[in-house]
Amino acid sequence: MPVVRLSSPAGDAVIEAAEGDLLRDVLRRAGASPHNGRARMLNCKGLGSCGTCAVSVAGPVEPAALTRMERWRLGFPPHDAQRSRAAGMRLACQVRIGGDLDVRKRPGFWGAVPDGEAPCATAEP
Ligand code: FES
Repeated sequence: MPVVRLSSPAGDAVIEAAEGDLLRDVLRRAGASPHNGRARMLNCKGLGSCGTCAVSVAGPVEPAALTRMERWRLGFPPHDAQRSRAAGMRLACQVRIGGDLDVRKRPGFWGAVPDGEAPCATAEP
């Protein structure tokens, strides 16, 4: 059974999940939302349009490459396509768990990667 290790401003968690589960659903069911603060209520409910569920993900997910919605939403402010790619950012509502994952939620309404953050060693090229 895959394990999701979450690092978040709201606290860290280790959550068991089933392969194929949607990452956002797994985090929310465990009370460890991928959203920060008011974004827990003010979000697109998984449509991939608000960008507030953005997290860095290391480990196997499906699809392995960014979806069209992820490329679109992680490509404009407050997100930045280059910084998001370097940090392995995904939208938790768009990816399914394929194995053990390390997930990092950054602070702020969207949890965007701040300018100047060092690239993640596990991010895709
Ligand atoms: S919940 Fe809005 S983009 Fe994921």
